[in-house]
This record gives sequence, C-alpha cells and structure tokens, in this order.
Amino acid sequence: MNTLQSHYLKAKEVLPGGVNSSTRFNKAIGKPFYVSKGRGSRVWDIEGKEYIDMCCAHGAGLLGNAHPAIDGALRRAASIGYVNSFETEYHEELARRVCGYIPCADRVRFCSSGSEATLHLIRACRAFTGKEKIIRIEGHFHGYHEMIYIGGQPPRSEFGRNRSEPYIESPGIPKEYAQFIIPVPYNDREALAAAVNDHAHETAMLIMEPVNFNCAGITPEPGYLAFVRELTRDNDIVLFFDEIQSSFKKSLGGAQADFGVIPDVCTIGKALGGGLPLSAFCGRAEIMDIFQPVGPVQHSGTFNAHLVPVLAGLAFLDEAARPDFYPSLRSLEDRFHAGIDAIIHDYGLSMTVTHHGARFNMLLGRTEPALRYEDTFCHDSRLFLEILKSCWERGVYFHDYGGGPAHHGYSIKHTNDDIDRVLTVLHDVLYIYQNSLQMHAEAMEVL
Ligand SMILES: Cc1ncc(COP(=O)(O)O)c(C=O)c1O
Repeated sequence: MNTLQSHYLKAKEVLPGGVNSSTRFNKAIGKPFYVSKGRGSRVWDIEGKEYIDMCCAHGAGLLGNAHPAIDGALRRAASIGYVNSFETEYHEELARRVCGYIPCADRVRFCSSGSEATLHLIRACRAFTGKEKIIRIEGHFHGYHEMIYIGGQPPRSEFGRNRSEPYIESPGIPKEYAQFIIPVPYNDREALAAAVNDHAHETAMLIMEPVNFNCAGITPEPGYLAFVRELTRDNDIVLFFDEIQSSFKKSLGGAQADFGVIPDVCTIGKALGGGLPLSAFCGRAEIMDIFQPVGPVQHSGTFNAHLVPVLAGLAFLDEAARPDFYPSLRSLEDRFHAGIDAIIHDYGLSMTVTHHGARFNMLLGRTEPALRYEDTFCHDSRLFLEILKSCWERGVYFHDYGGGPAHHGYSIKHTNDDIDRVLTVLHDVLYIYQNSLQMHAEAMEVL
C-alpha cells in the first residue's frame, strides 16, 4: 500500500472521511490529496512527488505558496507577539487601503472565511432594509451556511422545482429557511424584473457573483449588471456582489471595477490574505454603520481580523499594487488561453474554457460559453474527473470539485514554463479523451 493510501486510512479513523472540508475528498483520485509542502507554483504530496498547483488554494493563493512577502508578515506578527482580539494600527491601515481600492467600500469589517462574510453581510442587509427575503441567482455560490446554501446549485433532477420550492443544498438545513430564497436564472432580465415586481416589498437584497466562478465561469452579458444596478436601486433592494472569488483576480478593484458597476455592498476574500484566512465585507457607510456600536446589529468574534492575516493582507496588497503585478498575471492568462483555445480548436473538442483574470473554468459538452445554470447540464462530471485524474498522474494538480465545472487558476509565481507544461499535459490528456468528449457531445445533442 502506498503512503497516500495508508495515510488516508489512518486519517479516516479520526477525521470524517479523512478530511476537514468535505470537498477535500478528491473524487478524481478516490481519496484526499495529502500534501507535504508548497513553494511558489508547486506542491509536493506526502510521497515527495511534485505537482504544478492549478488550484492555488481555491483562489486564495494568488501569491503562490510561501511567498517571501507573507513570510515577512509572519515574522512581523511574531515580533509583535501576534496579539489577538485587540484592534491595532494595522487594522485601520488595512481597512483604509481596502476602502481605497474597492469602489463600493466606505467602511469594511474583516473576518476569516467567505462563508462568515456573507453571513454577516446578509444580516446587515436585512436589518438595514427591514425586509427578509433574498433574491439569488441559480448557479451562484455564497458559502455553506443556512442563510444561503439553498436554491443555488440544485441537481438536474430537482432543477424543475427550484423556483417554486428552492432546493435545500444540505440535509440539516431546516426547510423553513427556503421561504426566504427567491432563485432566478442568470443573465435573464425578464425573470429578474418579474421577481422584483412580485417581491420588492419583502426583499432585502439581490446577492450574486458578478462572475459565476462557482459554475462554469459564466460572465454577465453586456448591460446585464447595469440593468441589475438600476432595478435594485429603483426598488430599495440592496445590491450585494459576492466577490469572495472575483476580488483581486483581475484588478485591485474587483469585478465591480472591471465591469464598472458599483454595488451597495460586497464581500471580498480568498486572495486578500495572501494564503492566510482573511475575508471582509464592505459597503456604503449608511449600511455598514448598522453594525454595533454605531447601530444595533451584532457582529463580533474572538478571531475576527486576527493580527496574523491582517499583516498578511497588508503584505498581499503591497505585492498586488506593484505596477507589474496585474500585467504579469495578464500575460499568463493570455498565454494559457491562447494555448488551450488552440488545443480545443485543433482537436475539435466539445468544451469551452472561460476566464476572468487569473481564474478560469472548463465546461465540457459545448463550445460556446454558458449563459445560465441550466446551460451547464451538458457537462459530464464523470468524464471530467477522469481528465483531472490523468492530469494529476502527470504532475498537474487541478482540484476536482466533484467533477463540476468550477474554477482553477495560477498565481504570480507561475512562470511561462509552468503554463507551457500545463498546456502540454492538457494537450496529451485531451487527445486521449477526444473520442469520449465527442461521443458525449453527440449524446447531448440527441437529448
Ligand atoms: C463567491 C464565493 N462566496 C463564498 C465562498 C465561501 O468562502 P469560504 O470557502 O472561505 O467560506 C466562496 C468559496 O469558494 C465563493 O467562491
């Protein structure tokens, strides 16, 4: 038995499924991927095998593994004694810089995870408006908690009912929570206008991923975000961009700056901590001042804005603000997509790879980007897992996301050679699977 397998058996004795996050059970390889170390664009498994890291901590690792700037932040924190549960001058400095970069941010509060950020901001939107319902977009993901893990990504068999009975995405979430959720299709102005028309009087917020990285990387159609902005403003609905994934991937201002549409509030996270747990929620002063001690809404926590990730956040922003940071990421993006598009074209593959900044999604079963969630039902998860496993065997680690068309990406530490190596592996692997992809595409046409 190899080391990975025996470690898995031991870990399962004390951790459910051998993991601390359900999705760390990697369906492509049939067990979790246990790692011993990471440096730059690389990670090594516990048998010492090296991989190019195309997960990059689900988007949190935009600086790569063990970036020297983050090492510096850790040393700085140690010299301060990593005092916790106190405000320091660094908290104000980080908040001021975030407010300078993120267009909608007059004020910001820091926490650790994306799920926490959406939870607290949903509460604030409800308290601010005095309304309770949430319009959400199908396919979008906003964390695993009771407030919003409903109606986002129903299985195909449940999809038909989702708009009348929003699908509860995990057992254990009381069905009563579904009454607050109004799912609508992405990029569909009529459906959104109808939902607003029917529910504006009881709807606190419209929450959305401006780029749907959690499902096929669906981007907003031209004019859609501006339409959403106007409709929500006219109907006293808070516009909430969940930028946990999209923040910092293409620019310092996030997707709201990239598309030029400013929400009332947003969450940001992942990359912000330079690999350490840091997320934030921000927005217009009048909404953010709903929090105690200014307003009545509670938001507290022993580990909120821990000094270590706060210092890492400052170090991350120093790096991301360098004049060559985004041009370098952009050149990796151009290189990767020119390469993968050529492979798709040369083999006539039925797949599409969408991207926004340093993150991209692979969708099987169609050559045109999807516009809404149901367009992604053509994706073959089983085939995709086989493709990802073959890449893994060849030293390129893409996270499996259960075979779904979720996001992958690179960091500032990836080199042109890394990108070329990934393209070579994809070239070889997709060549092996081109007949399966073709057969799948033909089967989808018959359906
Ligand atoms: C858009 C979005 N919101 C919220 C979350 C939840 O973040 P976390 O995993 O840090 O709880 C994610 C995570 O992938 C995300 O992509």
